[in-house]
Amino acid sequence: MASSEFGRAVALVRDARRIVALTGAGISTESGIPDFRGPGGSWTKYDPAVFAYPQFVGDPESRKAYWRWSVEFWPQVAAAKPNDAHLALVALERAERLRCVVTQNVDGLHGLAGSRDVIEIHGNGTRTVCLSCRTSYDRNRIQERLLGGDTDPRCEACGGVLKPDVVLFGERMPQGPTERAFDEAESCDLLIVVGSSLVVNPAARLVPQAKQNGAKVVIVNLDRTLYDGIADVVLRGRAAETMGSLVGEALST
Ligand code: APR
Repeated sequence: MASSEFGRAVALVRDARRIVALTGAGISTESGIPDFRGPGGSWTKYDPAVFAYPQFVGDPESRKAYWRWSVEFWPQVAAAKPNDAHLALVALERAERLRCVVTQNVDGLHGLAGSRDVIEIHGNGTRTVCLSCRTSYDRNRIQERLLGGDTDPRCEACGGVLKPDVVLFGERMPQGPTERAFDEAESCDLLIVVGSSLVVNPAARLVPQAKQNGAKVVIVNLDRTLYDGIADVVLRGRAAETMGSLVGEALST
């Protein structure tokens, strides 16, 4: 990708020493997991309001609708492998240029890729937890139960309601990870956004937070985002190729 914008992004990554990456569903689409708001994304097919926290906890029929969607969606996540965009962030971390990845994704692919410091502000969908006793179950085990006809899986220890360990709409954010994400955004010298529409808060507010504290901002995204206007560089391209080239060039100069 030869462009003046790309060259400017390479220079910013090359000169940065405290990089934070903010990733969204767009970094995982090339690993086979659909995003939410891009063409054909999940929220173009399902109404996200159905999957909101109050409904999940309070209405068994809504909870069963969630599990009917999840039993179809999970195999794509379980089969997904990290792509070059995830691996580019691992390379930046190993070069001691990247402090951490803040991810909105719940697919666990950054950890699978080898990233060591990942702040999962929307939780992790590979875990399913009991809302009463907090017992944790591997999501693959729950998949077996769903495929075996269980429509509303309950805790084997206490009979409580089970829920994927992810933040649903209307659910409180995990306090520790969220606070740390904002601290990191405040002290970074470069924020790289990869594959997010930046429409969901509080995650999206990390971008102005970093900018206000003097960081440069690079956005890598196929479509326009809410914060393109405050970015120092916007690279309109696919995450795997763009991040692979960007980090490859920045670390070799
Ligand atoms: N390369 C670059 N960008 C991509 C790619 C790709 N291969 N594939 C998709 N994109 C872009 C899309 O153009 C879109 O703008 O990634 C963005 C993904 O945006 P969303 O689908 O809104 O996903 P995200 O920003 O992560 O959503 C945030 O919303 O539904 C909630 O909790 C959910 O964490 C999620 C949050």
